Amino acid sequence: MLIVIEGFMDRIAAAQFRSEVERLPWEDGVKSTAGPSARVKHNRQAGRAESAELANQLLAYFGRHPTFMSAALPHKIYPPRFNRYGVGEQYGTHVDASIMYQPGSSEALRSDLSLTLFLNDADDYDGGELVIEGQFGAQEVKLDAGDLVLYPSSSLHRVNPITRGERMAAIAWLQSMVPDAAARGMLYDLDQSIQALGRELPADHPQIRDLGAIYHNLVRRWARV
Ligand code: NI
Repeated sequence: MLIVIEGFMDRIAAAQFRSEVERLPWEDGVKSTAGPSARVKHNRQAGRAESAELANQLLAYFGRHPTFMSAALPHKIYPPRFNRYGVGEQYGTHVDASIMYQPGSSEALRSDLSLTLFLNDADDYDGGELVIEGQFGAQEVKLDAGDLVLYPSSSLHRVNPITRGERMAAIAWLQSMVPDAAARGMLYDLDQSIQALGRELPADHPQIRDLGAIYHNLVRRWARV
């Protein structure tokens, strides 16, 4: 399942954030990649140490966003990286690494979900679509600044070549408390329905309470923490 969260960061915050990301030192994106992915990766990324503070700011954003938390049910999040693609740059078809190690630690993380937070508007550049291959074919994602997409780390994906302008984004990976994607998807749908009912009905409505209990009991059944 591919989940788009529009306005994850509001436009003013996204513009401010982008201007701070822009000032970071940039290096060849291939530096953080090994294996076959390295041969198809042509972009630049911000240095890890220098971007740690902005990465932490973004992690705090994730924790405050109810739709994000509901969709991802994160257990561990790999620190976000920042990348940019200019004219002629691209990232060919690849799959993200399945196991990642937290920087400077031996703690492993299984990537269940990958995410991209767009830091430019879609009309700032041509090309640069994130193309995600899935069960129902390839889907192209190109969003405005502050919008975010979550997609299965198991999927083959690519970033199309840029033909005008520049594309800047934050990317991250996470291990979900609910490893099974189908179970996680149902929990998300159930939670969204409960939230929608809660806007129509009084908060102490007995069926909303009962559905909430079912939600939590399903999490108890499926979560691995
Ligand atoms: Ni990738």
